[in-house]
Amino acid sequence: MTTMRSKIEELLKKVEEFKPKDFTEIEDFRIKILGKKGELASLFEEFKGVSADMKKELGQKINLLKNTAIDKINELKNSLESVETVSSENIDMTRPGSNETIGTRHPISLVKNEITEIFSRLGFTTAEGPEIEDDWHVFSALNFPPEHPARDMQDTFFIEKNPDILLRTHTSSIQVRTMQSQKPPIRVVCPGRVFRNEAISYRAHCIFHQVEGLYIDEKVSFADLKQTILYFAKEMFGEASRIRMRPSYFPFTEPSAEVDVSCNLCGGKGCNVCKHTGWLEIMGCGMVDPNVLDACGIDSKKYSGFAFGMGVERISMLKYGVRDLRLYFENDLRFLQQFEFIV
Ligand code: DAH
Repeated sequence: MTTMRSKIEELLKKVEEFKPKDFTEIEDFRIKILGKKGELASLFEEFKGVSADMKKELGQKINLLKNTAIDKINELKNSLESVETVSSENIDMTRPGSNETIGTRHPISLVKNEITEIFSRLGFTTAEGPEIEDDWHVFSALNFPPEHPARDMQDTFFIEKNPDILLRTHTSSIQVRTMQSQKPPIRVVCPGRVFRNEAISYRAHCIFHQVEGLYIDEKVSFADLKQTILYFAKEMFGEASRIRMRPSYFPFTEPSAEVDVSCNLCGGKGCNVCKHTGWLEIMGCGMVDPNVLDACGIDSKKYSGFAFGMGVERISMLKYGVRDLRLYFENDLRFLQQFEFIV
């Protein structure tokens, strides 16, 4: 009967050393040892034939093995269950979720949207136009004389094979397209990207953004222009803002003016940003030249209008106190993330 004793001892060792990885392994082990056709069952079967003098000793051993196996399996099952319940109890359902970082809107888009939104409150709709233009829409229709320096190779990117095709240097080309396709009254703002052959510096770039404005109707006056610009300045830079207009020249407006807004950083007292003048230049404007109206198919005897154009980078720099225009083009997240978060 030594073989039976050693079988029992071997199995006991196996039970004691059993280290399952998961629940199914425990269950498989249980069936293999304690199941109806398991190893213990066959040991009990064998036990029936054991001689009377060995029965006591081997009987105790088998019972010990059986109890050890049952205890071990129960213990293993309990410990796995408690790990599972502890881990699900550990989830704190009231804890705020971790935030996914999503992008931020570019400051140029923010300011462009704000400009068009301010004018939309005055009934201006938005129009866009092509970045690759022809000479007529960018210059000729806007009353630029053929020898005007803006047509010069130094300013304008022309397409080499066809100098009639160029990258628009201003969004005023969209006012031409709008006048060609719409009948007055016209109230429109035209945002867009423009291109000039300029050296890149803290205050200039070869690509930048403008918003053009155009208002055409019967009896539109310079007073309407001034009031519209004043409204815009107050909405963009704060209620306390004042404006002043200085005479200027643009081929497409007569009279023409440059608009300054009181410096929103020093309140007009004078600081570095306004170069101690108290004023910041924000746009050009004027009454649409009758030549332009006629070139675009609008009767200049019946209708008059005003136009204005501003640089989005410039407005954004003044609004946010940005000192270097190149920051807008460098895609440095440390800069871009300082603006609005999209929620
Ligand atoms: N197109 C001009 C520029 O790029 C800006 C401008 C000035 C537009 C006066 C206008 C205007 O409509 O009336 O510098």
